[in-house]
Amino acid sequence: MDFRKLFLCSSLLVLHFAFSSSKDTITMNQTIHDGDFLISRENNFALGFFSPGSSSFRYLGIWYHKVGEQTVVWVANRDNPINGSSGVLSIDQYGNLVLRSYHSQKVPVWSTNVSVEVADTCVIAQLLDTGNLVLFHDRSKSTVWESFDHPTDTILPGMKLGLNQRTGMNRFPICWKSADDPGTGNFSLRINPKGSPQVFIYWGIKYIWRGFPWPLKSYTDISNVSFVNNQNETYMTYSVSDASVILRVMLDYSGLVKNLIWHEKDGKWNEFWSVPKSPCDAYGRCGTNGICDPHFFIRRFECDCLPGYEPKSSREWNILKDASGGCVRKRLESTSLCGHGDGFMKVANVKVPDTSAAVWVSTNMSPRDCEKNCMRNCSCSAYASIDIAGKETGCLTWYGKLMDTVHNGEEGYDIYVRVDAVELAEIAEKWNGFLKRKDMLAILVVSVVSAWFVIILFTYLWLKKKKKRVRNRWNKRWLDTIGTVENQVEGSMSHPEIAFFNLSTILAATNSFSPANKLGQGGFGVVYKGKLSNGKEVAVKRLSKDSGQGIDEFKNEVLLIAKLQHQNLVKLLGCCIQGEEPMLVYEYMPNKSLDSFLFNETRRSILDWRKRFDIIVGIARGILYIHQDSRLKIIHRDLKTSNILLDEEMNPKISDFGLARIFKGDQTHEKTNRIVGTFGYMSPEYVVFGKFSTKSDVFSFGIILLEIITGKRNNSFYQEDFYPSMIGKIWHLWREERAWEMVDSSLKHSCSPDEVLRCIQIGLLCVQEDIMERPTMSAVVLMLNSEISLPSPKQPAFTFRKSSIISSSSLEPKERFCSVDEETITEVVCR
Ligand SMILES: *[C@@H]1O[C@H](CO)[C@@H](O)[C@H](O)[C@H]1NC(C)=O
Ligand SMILES: *[C@@H]1O[C@H](CO)[C@@H](O)[C@H](O)[C@H]1NC(C)=O
Ligand SMILES: *[C@@H]1O[C@H](CO)[C@@H](O)[C@H](O)[C@H]1NC(C)=O
Ligand SMILES: *[C@@H]1O[C@H](CO)[C@@H](O)[C@H](O)[C@H]1NC(C)=O
Ligand SMILES: *[C@@H]1O[C@H](CO)[C@@H](O)[C@H](O)[C@H]1NC(C)=O
Ligand SMILES: *[C@@H]1O[C@H](CO)[C@@H](O)[C@H](O)[C@H]1NC(C)=O
Ligand SMILES: *[C@@H]1O[C@H](CO)[C@@H](O)[C@H](O)[C@H]1NC(C)=O
Repeated sequence: MDFRKLFLCSSLLVLHFAFSSSKDTITMNQTIHDGDFLISRENNFALGFFSPGSSSFRYLGIWYHKVGEQTVVWVANRDNPINGSSGVLSIDQYGNLVLRSYHSQKVPVWSTNVSVEVADTCVIAQLLDTGNLVLFHDRSKSTVWESFDHPTDTILPGMKLGLNQRTGMNRFPICWKSADDPGTGNFSLRINPKGSPQVFIYWGIKYIWRGFPWPLKSYTDISNVSFVNNQNETYMTYSVSDASVILRVMLDYSGLVKNLIWHEKDGKWNEFWSVPKSPCDAYGRCGTNGICDPHFFIRRFECDCLPGYEPKSSREWNILKDASGGCVRKRLESTSLCGHGDGFMKVANVKVPDTSAAVWVSTNMSPRDCEKNCMRNCSCSAYASIDIAGKETGCLTWYGKLMDTVHNGEEGYDIYVRVDAVELAEIAEKWNGFLKRKDMLAILVVSVVSAWFVIILFTYLWLKKKKKRVRNRWNKRWLDTIGTVENQVEGSMSHPEIAFFNLSTILAATNSFSPANKLGQGGFGVVYKGKLSNGKEVAVKRLSKDSGQGIDEFKNEVLLIAKLQHQNLVKLLGCCIQGEEPMLVYEYMPNKSLDSFLFNETRRSILDWRKRFDIIVGIARGILYIHQDSRLKIIHRDLKTSNILLDEEMNPKISDFGLARIFKGDQTHEKTNRIVGTFGYMSPEYVVFGKFSTKSDVFSFGIILLEIITGKRNNSFYQEDFYPSMIGKIWHLWREERAWEMVDSSLKHSCSPDEVLRCIQIGLLCVQEDIMERPTMSAVVLMLNSEISLPSPKQPAFTFRKSSIISSSSLEPKERFCSVDEETITEVVCR
């Protein structure tokens, strides 16, 4: 009986070896000594002995086989190193993988330590191409043990981070002690299943950073992250859409979670995302019931209290800038809360508070029912009505303290915080006071003026007596906006993220639109620089009158656009709808637009290759966001270098996005009879047929990219050259492998030709005539950030030579292709 089984088993082994080209398995009776390796079938990973950094100890580990820099992703004996090269790995008679040292054979250094019914079968260990070392029964193929269940500090694609409630197994990475010591460090990355599960970075048992809770999606960029939570399992995992991209997520010994991509050409790992970074990433930075604003540099302190709360200790908070004490209810007597006219106040675009104390009431419930549900239970302190994967609206409610709320424009959600009747009344009073009609004010002016005098005197004396009462910053902000709000109470109350400015405020800020303040003429109107009474500089855009929209429609559009927030988009601060023309108020960009650098002989040298590349990537990310990642899908339709503004640090910010929506309601249609765009940047299908799609923006992006590299305008070529456009010439030179000649000479010393040529290739792909040949923006971002191989571009659009333009007279070439006029056309009507 035993013999037969043994025979079967050995013959299977022989077969196995006959068919595998490189050694990726160990069987019973085989050993791996220090110096031997297992290499996975496609050569992705290797298993063997190594010494990290300057350490002389030996560890058994798995690393990338194809990556030049030794990058260890898993370590077996992390806390029990071997002194000298005496390590031996084998499968023992009980079917366990065992690591021993030559010198002390008896006590294993490390073991998989699982019980296998070895008498019944034989066991094989195999290193898979995913980087997983698996131990399995050869006959039943059932897995006994796998290294993916015992992460070290790296999460590879396909690995699960989280727990299995059935087996009680919890898989989480723990950082190394140092770069030289893979021993168990103090930071770990774990899922906490309490309430709505969330990922945390722990230091010991203390929270350091918190991710978004299930089921809110965290990111889908190059990798596809999924968060699974059912009665059996709670875990996170990710996959990479492009198999040629080598991507890993790791927890480094300083407690940072890093996403890294291998750049073959530079021979190094490039970090593209890491946390915690900003002060607000630190868990509970502003204490209980506080809210943190990562853009705190605008103000002085990043912490605030949620509405209805005030700092527990105003001295610590306001003077020592220490928010750890958190915030408490303004009125502690609970009589004013719950069932006594209390209500909710919206706090928009935040990373929702810690959900350990939260409950998903339902994953499909209307906002109204969600509010009622929270209102009914006196311990419910806040609720959020949240879109889940764009399909259902879930109702999430919090009980007790609200921890770790952070303003998070780009990826934030709205929460509604319970406030008492007094708070509600205070706010209503402020608004009502402001609402008094102008004629009534006029009648009251005389009495008010005299009353003022008395009041001022009274207040002065009162203030002198009483210690200066420190007011909650939240309230201050509300008061600030009141000064600028006209009768838009409802709109503003529910949209605190945007201010409605008075015409008089705007006039004062821009010096009555004095020509000296004019910044430029954009596609949809003139832009002026302004300075608000609080000293903040802004840019005011007067939209030309003919937007063809009513006030309400306009307001809705502006509210939608204001929700789009990304580091590569110019931030919309507010609008003004008094007066003849609607106006939009944006943050002010001191460095003006990209074209003022690129096409200026002296200023162009400020932008070296690194900066230009960062600008290209920034623009691509901004476009990707408006195309895909934001809640609205927006096609810009007028991307050009003069619409790319630069902040103090030369980060690019796209302006004028969403204006096509305001000027044209039928954004959902793919065809328009009104062309918005600028010659030189418009795609052929848009110029000729008025058809637009996200691929029209890709085309414009390609032109911008090539302009950044060449320092030449696409449409300024007609005089000096045989080619009507810059892309015509660059395509010609590309085919002759001379594209390098077109690169801006002020750039050539600061760049690597390979990198620049790769960018030119991406640019040419973007300006292909055939829409299908142009990549999507997400593919462009991937191409820019990785080393994946690129397709060869075909002949781009608009590359014909002059003679061919002249022969195609129907196109009226003088107007179409010889124009160097930079202005956006808003009035071309195609039939
Ligand atoms: C392993 O070696 C032992 C003794 O050397 C032998 O009895 C056994 O059959 C071998 N097992 C396999 C699977 O080759
Ligand atoms: C390692 O081995 C060397 C020589 O065998 C010995 O001198 C040294 O003390 C050992 N180190 C440790 C930490 O055991
Ligand atoms: C192996 O596991 C058992 C429990 O399953 C445990 O008691 C024992 O300490 C473990 N041995 C090693 C070497 O980890
Ligand atoms: C981990 O924490 C302990 C206790 O605070 C400390 O002694 C130790 O040095 C820390 N280890 C590392 C690698 O930072
Ligand atoms: C992401 O992964 C999940 C689960 O692995 C899968 O269902 C989904 O289709 C993937 N999405 C994309 C865009 O690849
Ligand atoms: C949980 O596990 C049980 C038993 O293995 C299985 O029947 C059930 O379908 C699983 N549930 C989910 C949601 O996967
Ligand atoms: C309010 O909700 C909490 C948490 O879900 C629950 O423990 C408590 O019983 C509820 N109270 C009432 C009155 O429903």
